[in-house]
Amino acid sequence: MNPTLAGFAYLIAAVLFILGLKRLSSPATALRGNRTAALGMLIAIVVTLLDRQVVGYLTIVAGIVVGGGVGAFLAQKVEMTSMPQLVAAFNGFGGGASAFVAVAELIRGGDVAATRTLVSIGLSVFIGAVTLSGSLVAFGKLQGIIGGKPFVLPFQKVLDGALVVAAAAALVSVAANGSTPGAWLLFALAIVLGVTRTMPIGGADMPVVISFLNSLSGVAASAAGFVIESNALIISGALVGASGLILTNIMVKAMNRTLGNVLFSAFGGETEGGELSGDRVARRASPDDVAVTLAYAQKVVVVPGYGLAVAQAQHTIRELADQLEAKGVDVRYAIHPVAGRMPGHMNVLLAEADISYDKLYDLDDINPEFAHTDVALVVGANDVVNPLAREPNNPITGMPILDVDRARSVVVVKRSLSPGFAGIDNPLFYLDNTLMLFADAKKGLADVVTAVKEL
Ligand code: TAP
Repeated sequence: MNPTLAGFAYLIAAVLFILGLKRLSSPATALRGNRTAALGMLIAIVVTLLDRQVVGYLTIVAGIVVGGGVGAFLAQKVEMTSMPQLVAAFNGFGGGASAFVAVAELIRGGDVAATRTLVSIGLSVFIGAVTLSGSLVAFGKLQGIIGGKPFVLPFQKVLDGALVVAAAAALVSVAANGSTPGAWLLFALAIVLGVTRTMPIGGADMPVVISFLNSLSGVAASAAGFVIESNALIISGALVGASGLILTNIMVKAMNRTLGNVLFSAFGGETEGGELSGDRVARRASPDDVAVTLAYAQKVVVVPGYGLAVAQAQHTIRELADQLEAKGVDVRYAIHPVAGRMPGHMNVLLAEADISYDKLYDLDDINPEFAHTDVALVVGANDVVNPLAREPNNPITGMPILDVDRARSVVVVKRSLSPGFAGIDNPLFYLDNTLMLFADAKKGLADVVTAVKEL
């Protein structure tokens, strides 16, 4: 293929990636954004296939059929609540692919390659392999295949330090001599490092780790782009690297943590602090009680959380809101940035039920409203409304929360008094103005809808 034409097509693909990302930043344009970026990827793939035939087309088609088949099957089958593990698997395979591309390039004649290319090969192998094993551990933790508790080895820091030093030596040997055994050694050390660095991180922090590994998979791909001199790969890898890092930053900020704290503090295993004395009593409510409380309110703010997603209660909450609005109640939704298990989880869920975006309010916009709210209806949310975040010395200290306890009354729909993701109790459940409806979110809300209709 004419190199100028190929270069121009790659440029168009890169522009489409950037436009796609821009459109993904608003729910209203996200679907179009996804399609725009997918079109960019299609152009990049077609041009690559026409431009350079590294292996036979049959091998490529076989790879597309097997990889595409597995991907399509998983994407259809995986529940929304398991999306972080799916992303982890995708990141891992992406990182692994970059590492293998780099090693393959070395085998193809890396010893005659320029130092710049050899350094890129070393970086791609190292970062790609760390991403591969780290992502598979993250997948295992979230899927419950391996325990979610932090698993800290004796002499963890010494071991990690030794692995980093050995990997740096192997990287230098790759960069200096184009050594293929050195590249395989680097690969093996990075695989072990990915495991030893991810195992000590608690399941609670896995979504942040996955976002960070997503960023690393982009950096590995970008390095592989320098190895095979593909502008499309360099640009798309850089975009993934940068957007993954921005997302990681948003998540750690919303949890009032730092990336270093998430990666190195072994948080989220045991309940640490924040326990309540056992003599407090929560006020149990029936669906009828909740229906009356809601139907005679003027303003209700719904706070969705992880439990709403697990129960798939988005359509039922919409039905309830419709009933209340028909009675003249002002219904809004408060979205905490880390409610659920992945960024934008609640937005996607509520969008599925066709709940209008202009009824969704961010934390900063809705918090001043709670003082003028009759009922805060908390559905399957826990940590994001836990007032302990305002107290010192507990795992969620300083995390910005939705101030539901400032509403005139609070209704919480969940199955029990069990803690949420952070593993700590929640004093909100024991406040005088809180009513607890102990039920699965979908079943409980359906009963409330029936009761509202009968009023
Ligand atoms: P959580 O604090 O995890 O609480 C969810 C609650 O849902 C649980 O207490 C559980 O109580 C309830 N629940 C589970 N299944 C239910 C069902 N079928 N019906 C009704 N309730 C059900 O959730 P949250 O408030 O959304 O907070 C999210 C947490 O995840 C935060 O700690 C956050 O830091 C963490 N996190 C989030 C992200 C992102 S990006 N979203 C990333 C990393 C970490 P019962 O068992 O009593 O029902």
